Amino acid sequence: MLFLKHQNLSDQDLLNLAQKLSDKEGPLEDKVLHWDFGPIMNMKFDPDAKNYLFSSQRVPLHWDGAFYKTPKKLLFYCTETSGSGGETFFVDTTLVWESLSESEKDICRKVKLRYETEKLSHYGGVFETNLVTTHPDTGQTILRLAERVETELNPVKLTITGVTNPWGFYEWLVNKFYSAPFLYEHHWQTGDVLVIDNFRYLHGRRELLTNKNRSFKRIQIL
Ligand SMILES: [Fe+2]
Repeated sequence: MLFLKHQNLSDQDLLNLAQKLSDKEGPLEDKVLHWDFGPIMNMKFDPDAKNYLFSSQRVPLHWDGAFYKTPKKLLFYCTETSGSGGETFFVDTTLVWESLSESEKDICRKVKLRYETEKLSHYGGVFETNLVTTHPDTGQTILRLAERVETELNPVKLTITGVTNPWGFYEWLVNKFYSAPFLYEHHWQTGDVLVIDNFRYLHGRRELLTNKNRSFKRIQIL
């Protein structure tokens, strides 16, 4: 995890930083994920949001790009924050894996996950993954369990197979994710720049509460 503090970074400054953090060669499109809104997503509370990411609701644990293309790193730049709520939390899944017993690891290795959501925002569709996978760069074991998203605003349906009592297993692992020493919670200040490994870590967000003016720019580095 890389943490910097900078005031007044322009979009071009952020793209320059993102390009330096990419290990890809070639044009910007090969280094930074582009969506229909471009390479920078402006994240801000929208009272009329059709998708929970832009509402004030809590955002459950996930990794970015799962329905499209998974970026290696995420760059977040906080442009405004005040009040309480909206803290971002990160879970180190490699550390979780290393904490498990051999019998727990055997159970996890058989688990398969299927996610399904309607495309109301910039992502959507269906994807399947094994719970236990390998980091493409470090070769370390990582876990790919995103929490189910139970909301009126663009829910994500999760199906778990390969384990008896799937939802008991789910509760057990999610409770582990939210416990020390696996969880890091970041209390934002304006100007914070955070870069995170999108394979090793899962991330989510607390409910916005009084922090409705919380604003971010996010770049996904390939
Ligand atoms: Fe995200």
